[in-house]
Amino acid sequence: MPLDFSDPAGGDTLGDGTTESLLEHPMPIDGQSLHGRFLVLDGPDGCGKSTQLARLADWLGSIGADPITVREPGGTAIGERIREVLLDPACSEMDLRCEMLLYMASRAQLCRERIRPALAVGRTVIADRFVSSTLAYQGTAGGLSPEAIAAVGRVATEDLEPDLTVVLDVDETVAASRLSPVLDRIEQRGIEFHRRVRAGFLEQARRWPDRHEVVDTSPPPEIVFRAIESAIERHAAHWTAPATIASERG
Ligand code: TMP
Repeated sequence: MPLDFSDPAGGDTLGDGTTESLLEHPMPIDGQSLHGRFLVLDGPDGCGKSTQLARLADWLGSIGADPITVREPGGTAIGERIREVLLDPACSEMDLRCEMLLYMASRAQLCRERIRPALAVGRTVIADRFVSSTLAYQGTAGGLSPEAIAAVGRVATEDLEPDLTVVLDVDETVAASRLSPVLDRIEQRGIEFHRRVRAGFLEQARRWPDRHEVVDTSPPPEIVFRAIESAIERHAAHWTAPATIASERG
């Protein structure tokens, strides 16, 4: 469900002294309750993910969640080489299936090399994109079936699913205005493609509300971050089952 940004105190959010109250934590969580949990931050290009990711890692570190951040595609030596191929505008003839499988190949290496080992020792993993991106970009926007992507995804991740995916929502016109002038191979696809990407993320959040949260990125970054914190706090309050990897270990 999209978060409500209305300020119950009716304060101005832009630096007149009321910002502090908006940034308080109504439901503070103990970082330990996030140990072994897998969080994903995702969304269309230009959604402001990098800024929010850095803040999220700082916050989780400050509350003792022992976070580790990984990015997709990439995050490992092999994955970074795959990333170069994927984003290189010179690879314009790349077939959509090849593209999907390369994203998954990078993901398989990342899961084995970094995500699973980190979860196994109780760290909190924050991933910059995951299967949700493949479903939105190569699925809804690209045209591959979600069933096919999900099936390959299960092979790549060995059934690893995030505890929570926070989708940073942005209007495609605003998003386009935020991109740097030098566009990579995926960013070059134009506004209609990115409109479908956005629709793909929103559709996933509608289908699986238990594990997704949509955050509107039109307010100022502090308020967006507050909404991300709230989403994590609310979902964490309902996590009763042990973290996936911990339960696998028995
Ligand atoms: P980034 O710019 O967030 O690092 O992501 C790289 C690009 O790759 C971005 O345009 C989104 C795209 N992408 C996909 O098309 N499918 C995927 O599965 C992933 C992880 C990213």
